[in-house]
Amino acid sequence: MADRIYYPNAELANNAYCNSMQQYKDMHEKSIKNPELFWSEIAKQFYWESQTSNDKFFSYNFDLNQGDVFIKWMEGASTNLSFNLLDKNVKCGNGDKIAFYWEGNDPEDYSRLTYRKLLEETCRFANVLKSKGVQKGDRVAIYMPMILELPIAMLACTRIGAVHSVVFAGYSSDALAERMMDSKAKVLITTDGVWRGSKLLILKAICDDAMKKVKEKSHEVESCIVVSHLRRVTSPQGSTLDGEKGKHGINGSSNGNNEPNIPWDEDRDCWWHEEMEDAEASCYPAWMAAEDPLFILYTSGSTGKPKGVLHTTAGYLIYAATTFKYVFDYKPNDIYWCTADIGWITGHTYVVYGPLANGATSVLFEGTPFYPENDRFWKVIDKFKVTQFYTAPTAIRSLMKFGDDLVKKYDLSSLKVLGSVGEPINSEAWLWFYNLIGHGKCSIVDTFWQTETGGHVITPLPGATPMKPGSASFPFFGVRPELLDEDGKLIEGEGEGYLVFRQPWPGMMRSLYNNHERFQTTYFDKFRGFYCTGDGARRDSDGYLWITGRIDDMLNVSGHLMSTAEVESVLAEHPSVAEAAVVSKPHPVKGQCLYCFITPNEGKTFDKTLQDELKKKVREKIGPFAQPDIIQHAPGLPKTRSGKIMRRILRKIAIGDKNVGDTSTLADESIVDLLFQLRPQN
Ligand code: WT7
Repeated sequence: MADRIYYPNAELANNAYCNSMQQYKDMHEKSIKNPELFWSEIAKQFYWESQTSNDKFFSYNFDLNQGDVFIKWMEGASTNLSFNLLDKNVKCGNGDKIAFYWEGNDPEDYSRLTYRKLLEETCRFANVLKSKGVQKGDRVAIYMPMILELPIAMLACTRIGAVHSVVFAGYSSDALAERMMDSKAKVLITTDGVWRGSKLLILKAICDDAMKKVKEKSHEVESCIVVSHLRRVTSPQGSTLDGEKGKHGINGSSNGNNEPNIPWDEDRDCWWHEEMEDAEASCYPAWMAAEDPLFILYTSGSTGKPKGVLHTTAGYLIYAATTFKYVFDYKPNDIYWCTADIGWITGHTYVVYGPLANGATSVLFEGTPFYPENDRFWKVIDKFKVTQFYTAPTAIRSLMKFGDDLVKKYDLSSLKVLGSVGEPINSEAWLWFYNLIGHGKCSIVDTFWQTETGGHVITPLPGATPMKPGSASFPFFGVRPELLDEDGKLIEGEGEGYLVFRQPWPGMMRSLYNNHERFQTTYFDKFRGFYCTGDGARRDSDGYLWITGRIDDMLNVSGHLMSTAEVESVLAEHPSVAEAAVVSKPHPVKGQCLYCFITPNEGKTFDKTLQDELKKKVREKIGPFAQPDIIQHAPGLPKTRSGKIMRRILRKIAIGDKNVGDTSTLADESIVDLLFQLRPQN
């Protein structure tokens, strides 16, 4: 069944913005041949304080042989993101429209926010930031759970031209510190804590730890603004910390200082709600140049040091808005829900910027799919009558396990478009999503993209593209993918190779923060004239693209990208470890998991204690999502005579496949047998 083609439902197709392959092809061709014309028509939907000119609309160099790489869209134009997302929607009569329905970790906790209120809160908080000395260009770190203050904080940054750097609140204090040092963050915004399922996390304590490390090694974070969140939500035992239950607005009124165990520095820390009390609800927007920085978002790099991906103003706005509109086919009364955390790029572009730029109504979900029961996703879709539902293959696979009855309890008939992102979706998960969740009438958009690409780059369009389960299909407008072989030769027609892009689209990153050199070597050095994604892809006889996964030393655990080097360097820091090598192993739910080979130091034993310590260390240094599944004893590692670890062989050992291929370049071939013998039995 998996090689069957699934056509968009006729009703969906008839009403879609793009409703046939012919229309898609025409629009795509125009976007490639005349990007200036294509995107300048789209740009007219937005407000520009000053205009660009035709000859300056688009310029770039992708070819290092011709000089430095640069990408510029709409030079000369100026605008403000929050103005386009908020003021413009209020002015055109959407002030009372809901921007976000907030659904808490506990089903008892929920609230909503209109566009008008979102604008007011954004302005208020922009004034708070100003009062803390934040100026245009300053970096503001944000470490928050999925609550309404998170988009407010981001939009407030854009209001005054500050550059936000959101760090996923599942990262450890070390990871947060490293990112704040790299971006030289002046202010940190967080919450006292958050319930994840039935687990309480004191985020402020993690922040304190991180700020201490930043102070020791780099600079001082001047202010830490803390949302008092815990007292207003229901704890898993059924009572709030201050006994008040249920619904709440976004402005707290009780005194957050009464909270238990929240570390505090009077000179540096302040409560969000106290600062907001006297702040004015209007704030004139800072007009930003088209290529002024909008935000930094860190992503893993193959050297282990995270890369500060830099996105800028005008191009990101038009690309986020356009991909959201066409890929989800969002219509004015739809209720859209993207389950991704805002701490990742999916949350930036498709929880915050894309939906708001289209005046959409979205669900903002704080919880997990498994709390209080494993039916939470379906319950929330039913509750809000969600029309577009965007999630990750790993979530789908983990929910499939619980059986179909949990799904059938709910009315999911509101759904029109289903989205998948983060890793290739296997056909079994695709079919379950299609048949059970979508009742065979929803289109599935398998959206391939990256932190670096800013928005979808290869994706079906729900009213146009005939779907093949597991294929991300065709390029979005403005995107020109190619497949190259190892020598950089173009692969035409059917074939498999490196996935690269030939020319920029408006939403792609412009640089790595403060490290243009690394930007160039990472993405533009291997194949001159192309942006290299690091992924492999196959083109079938119908021209469909199938992403085959990373071909560098990166791995994708539950849609979280990390590098083998990043984990290896944490493991190797342990005093008992001489050497560590990490590879990925396929995992039925997570997609991939970490398999680590450890060579202990002379005289040190490899035992359960060491394994536990190593797992703990990875949790502390990177975050819980990076915890290795398997740690194996490796008295030696398979190396070439020049000392290079042959990960290809380790990957085979990890899956127990004795077909390791050519081992003649190994310095010591006997090590392979030994490692097979030492595989843990499970
Ligand atoms: C890597 C980027 C972009 C949002 C989430 C991750 C993999 C992403 C797909 C897909 C196959 C996918 C790629 C990519 N990936 N979407 N639909 N099919 N692979 O962002 O952390 O920057 O990771 O995720 O390997 O390079 P990210």
